[in-house]
Amino acid sequence: MDKLVIRGGRPLRGTIAASGAKNASLPILAATLLAPGEHKVSRLPDLMDTSSMLSLLGRIGCPSLVGPTVRIDTSRVSFNEAPYDLVRKMRASILVLGPLLARCGEAHVSLPGGCAIGVRPIEQHLKGLEALGCVFELDGGYVHGRVDRLRGADFRFDITTVTGTENVMMAAVLAEGTTILRNAACEPEIVDLAGFLGGMGARITGAGTPTIVIDGMPALRASRKAWAILPDRIESGTYLAAAAITGGDVTVLGADPDDLAPVLEVLRRTGTEIELRPDGVRAFRTGPILATDVDTQPHPGFPTDMQAQVMALLSLADGTSVIRENIFENRFMHAAELHRLGARIEIAGNTATVTGSPSLRGATVMATDLRASASLVLAGLAAHGTTEVLRLYHLDRGYERLEEKLGALGADVFRAAEGRPVEAARAV
Ligand code: EPU
Repeated sequence: MDKLVIRGGRPLRGTIAASGAKNASLPILAATLLAPGEHKVSRLPDLMDTSSMLSLLGRIGCPSLVGPTVRIDTSRVSFNEAPYDLVRKMRASILVLGPLLARCGEAHVSLPGGCAIGVRPIEQHLKGLEALGCVFELDGGYVHGRVDRLRGADFRFDITTVTGTENVMMAAVLAEGTTILRNAACEPEIVDLAGFLGGMGARITGAGTPTIVIDGMPALRASRKAWAILPDRIESGTYLAAAAITGGDVTVLGADPDDLAPVLEVLRRTGTEIELRPDGVRAFRTGPILATDVDTQPHPGFPTDMQAQVMALLSLADGTSVIRENIFENRFMHAAELHRLGARIEIAGNTATVTGSPSLRGATVMATDLRASASLVLAGLAAHGTTEVLRLYHLDRGYERLEEKLGALGADVFRAAEGRPVEAARAV
């Protein structure tokens, strides 16, 4: 396993480009199953999660050719199963459920189970698909789904769910009649998926609002044009937060200020200056970090996927901040690791009280999930001395060319094998 070694204390300065969004790429790759043919996707980020999804499609019988434009051939589906060995690596594999049911009338998907950030059930995905006529049986750790004919329905989600909305929307595009999805998630990644489906001939209105209307089509076709995945707002937000925490000055080219609005608002409240430029977003900080309270909410609220990074920033603030995590029940695992770097954070239920410290000190830390790892990297960049972030594979799931981008901004970071002393690793 690899670790990231960071010698902190340098302000990050410079310009980098945003990568394509992980959480838009995964449903879009799954959506290629809806129409036989060759699909083309550009700006697909090179991440462990996107390769896992391409492997899953390969297992289903849909090979892909990776390059600046990724080509996925979904002419034939020879296997309608997402097996446990792939699903356990990536929960988002559940996104093939809706498309496989729509394409094959039958699907077998391993249940994702809980993960480090919470229980994460999928009953909303199943309820929505049931409303369209699917029947499910749970057996041997698998969801076995069947449908003779998908029929449009008026369905209201009990809970706002991002991948749940995507799964049901993908099945509804091939249903007979109209589907109305109420209390749908409004994340920009859902709008990107709707755009991709539109390019295949689907008729969807209202994506990005709580009510999505889908007029089902008898068939879709692969678009001749390549679909460019939208820029990753969480990756962009993480680099802007890196500028804030190190007292640096970073521009993220391609970052979308609208999608990032709740993140930019919180960064501004911490005393970070934000400049919206025609080609991206710039963040810089010259004064102290100011304390502020943060509440995670579904979009357009502050994203849970930026909570850990902002906690790292607030651990160096002038004053006390309160963070409430309202989306996942167990997403404060990074707090104990930040504590190892000298942060002062108290957790009570879904609330973290962060008392700012004047400085952090480097230490060896270990993360349990992707965004927790990102928060430890940010803290390490600001800390005095050397920080080693173990289990780097979490970061490889969601941050494309992380060391290269951080290096371009002047960070002193490198990857090494875990268990290898820093000096020996550097000498290689
Ligand atoms: N939930 C249920 N039942 C369901 C579905 C969801 O109770 O059937 C609950 C979840 O347990 C959670 C809440 O509803 O408490 C919201 O979960 P949601 O379904 O929206 O999350 P998700 O679709 O599984 C996506 C992202 C996550 C991101 C969340 C919230 C993808 C592939 N994943 O997950 O991204 O945190 O939405 O915005 O889009 C990440 O990138 O690090 C990441 C975890």
